[in-house]
Amino acid sequence: MERTFVMIKPDGVGRRLCGEIIARYEAKGLRLTGLKMQVLSEELAAKHYAEHVGKPFYPGLLEFITSGPTIQMVWEGAEAIDVVRKINGATHCLKADVGTIRGDHGVNTRNNLVHASDSPETAAREIALYFDDSELWDYAMLDGLWLAGS
Ligand code: PPS
Repeated sequence: MERTFVMIKPDGVGRRLCGEIIARYEAKGLRLTGLKMQVLSEELAAKHYAEHVGKPFYPGLLEFITSGPTIQMVWEGAEAIDVVRKINGATHCLKADVGTIRGDHGVNTRNNLVHASDSPETAAREIALYFDDSELWDYAMLDGLWLAGS
C-alpha cells in the first residue's frame, strides 16, 4: 500500500467539481485517509512549490493557488501515486487524455484542477506539510480483499 497527497485547486472547488474529483479516486478503489479545506497562506504555498522558485510560471502559480479555498487529501492504495496521476491526466489540460479529470474538465495549465505527488519522496514531504499523523485515519474497507495490490 502506498500513500499520496492530492490537492483540489481553487478552480476545482470554485467550479463545484470536488464531488466529481473525489468520486473518481473512490471508484478506483483508493482509500481516503485524510481531508481538510483551507485557503493557503503565501508562506505555505511557497513551501509547497519551493522546487519551482525562479521558473517563469512561479508568480502566477502562487497567485492562483492562494486565490481561494483548496482541499487537501491523502489517498492510499496499491501504487496510489501513479494511479492518481493517471486519473488526473497530463499537466496541460488540452493534452490530457479524455477520461481523466483534466482531460474532461480543464482547458489550460494553470487552472488544472488538481495537484498530486509525483514520487514517494514528494508524497512524504507534502503529506507532512499539511497533516499530522493524528489527522490520518486507518479503517477497514469491506472490499479490501479485492483491492489489495499484487
Ligand atoms: S516543471 O517545470 O516541468 O517541473 O513544471 P510542471 O510539472 O509542468 O508544472 C509544475 C506546476 O506548475 C504549474 N504550472 C503553471 N502554473 C501557472 N502557469 C503556468 N504557465 C504553469 N505551468 C505549469 C503546473 O500546473 C504544476 O502544478 P502542480 O500543482 O504541481 O500540478
